[in-house]
Amino acid sequence: GLKKYFTTQLLSWHRNDNDRNLPWKNEQDPYKIWLSEIILQQTRALQGMPYYLRFTETYPTIADMAAAKDEDVFRIWQGLGYYNRCKNMLATARLVTTEFGGKFPDTYEGIISLKGIGPYTAAAIASFAYGLPHAVVDGNVYRVLSRYFAIETPFDTTEGKKQFATLAQELIDPAHSQGYNQAIMDLGATVCTPRNPLCDQCPLQKNCVAFHQNLTTLLPVRSKK
Ligand code: ADE
Ligand code: SF4
Repeated sequence: GLKKYFTTQLLSWHRNDNDRNLPWKNEQDPYKIWLSEIILQQTRALQGMPYYLRFTETYPTIADMAAAKDEDVFRIWQGLGYYNRCKNMLATARLVTTEFGGKFPDTYEGIISLKGIGPYTAAAIASFAYGLPHAVVDGNVYRVLSRYFAIETPFDTTEGKKQFATLAQELIDPAHSQGYNQAIMDLGATVCTPRNPLCDQCPLQKNCVAFHQNLTTLLPVRSKK
């Protein structure tokens, strides 16, 4: 069916054709995965990359970050904006180091209870660090899913959020949650882009409803509030 094809194609594309290289991909260390996801919350991947490299070089472990002076951490953060993110990050590094014995939380509930972490970031960390089957849902996911399935529900409504979250959770392959989540992020960033999606290079084209019905420019739908 449509759903099975979506997941199979996405994973196969990720294994064979996804050539988007970013330094946090295939990272195993929960600390570095967490750090990358905090940076990427409000910053694009290419813009965030030098910050990620600088942080991991300066603070190779979460204990190193926890022991740093506030002003040094803030100096490296400079340019990323949203300084609450940096404050929360430092507080979390210290909490994990002093209260959790340096062990980053390894459950979705534990991860989402940390400061500055919502459902998207928690799902990303849970899957990338621990292979837990939590599907990420963000703008990329709304775009890819709304087009492939021709879903016209506005994604920024209570109903839409629920519908897309439920569907995303059905689509994730629990045995390959890292690959699935990374693939949908990368497909949304490089192929199923907001404008002029590269449908002729898309692994989902054969069954994509928006492509066949010429709806790509109309999807996703945002409520007109
Ligand atoms: N945005 C948020 N997390 C990301 C990741 N792991 N790779 C690429 N872009 C992202
Ligand atoms: Fe997006 Fe086009 Fe692929 Fe459909 S075929 S998922 S619209 S890139």
